[in-house]
Amino acid sequence: MNKIRAAITGVNGYVPDYVLTNKELETMVETNDEWITSRTGIKERRILKGEDQGTSVLGIAAVKGLLEKTNTKADEIDLLICATTTPDMTFPATANIIANEIGAVNAFNYDLQAACSGFIYALTTGSQFIETGKYKKVVVVGADKMSSIVDYTDRTTCIIFGDGAGAVMLEPTEEEIGIMDAKLHSDGSGAQHLHMKAGGSRRPASHETIDRREHFVFQEGSAVFKFAVTNMADVSAQVMERNNLTGDDIAFLVPHQANKRIIDATARRMEIGAEKVMLNIHKYGNTTSGTIPLCLWNYEDQLKKGDNIILAAFGGGFTWGALWVKWAYDPA
Ligand code: UT7
Repeated sequence: MNKIRAAITGVNGYVPDYVLTNKELETMVETNDEWITSRTGIKERRILKGEDQGTSVLGIAAVKGLLEKTNTKADEIDLLICATTTPDMTFPATANIIANEIGAVNAFNYDLQAACSGFIYALTTGSQFIETGKYKKVVVVGADKMSSIVDYTDRTTCIIFGDGAGAVMLEPTEEEIGIMDAKLHSDGSGAQHLHMKAGGSRRPASHETIDRREHFVFQEGSAVFKFAVTNMADVSAQVMERNNLTGDDIAFLVPHQANKRIIDATARRMEIGAEKVMLNIHKYGNTTSGTIPLCLWNYEDQLKKGDNIILAAFGGGFTWGALWVKWAYDPA
């Protein structure tokens, strides 16, 4: 019997309607469209507005569409993993909230937190349940409502992030397609450069933590930038090398969308041209766990069965990694 691999058999995305442009940010903080565009590549991002609207709202919309596209009934799902850094609540898991809302009554569900690498961590984790033969349908969601933890008086972070979600279906195959290889890394010493100071068990919410604005993303941008450029490029190159892949073999790089300059450096290191790089940072900004599945969703009609793609991410933790995936289906 051939090895069972986990194939991505469908993808869907969801972004909320509200568009926060660089122009509007100019009215909120001391910044300008030229600086944001040249330093990050971002022109606008989407924001989920309204009372009691959490990350699950984004995830539910992405998964509902995924089930329609793949002709899947909710009760057929065995496992739903939600990668998120902005769960609806500390508990229960946002994955449970999503599964309940869509009627995935036979699934077990959990959240996975690896900041901007959350989706590739979750995809790797979900694929293991397929590869063992244990499960037949695994949904992996990457969803974040970053606007809930962004300080809109801090110009160094508020220009970067946006809200959005993407989801993929994983199913078994004995063909030479699907998740082929993954190389994931963590380095906890990076926590000092990118974290949220309060709201966890170490420093629960209090008047003081709110007054000190500690419930927002804290980022030392240029320190994170240096680690991101080196590690995302290195791990992508390593995954290619150990699988004897050259730039010519790659149909697309699917990079985490944190900064266009980090993406360009990764593509250069992989020796692939700009035309083979999935990009949506200009319209969605950095949606943390959402970036990679949103890219796959945006470029789905350009992917063919057998295409080699490299998924790569770097994020808080630090966490980073790259996956080699052979795309499993042709455009509809
Ligand atoms: O996704 C998870 C991982 N995160 C990342 O990968 C993000 C990595 N970091 C970055 O993308 C970049 O570091 C930023 C986009 C956050 C910042 O860009 P930078 O080129 O590293 O700028 P900087 O922080 O070194 O700041 C350069 C200057 C500073 O002014 P001075 O001190 O030189 O006078 C900043 O105060 O730019 C200033 N600045 C701004 N100016 C206009 C910072 N933010 C802004 C802004 N508008 N929004």
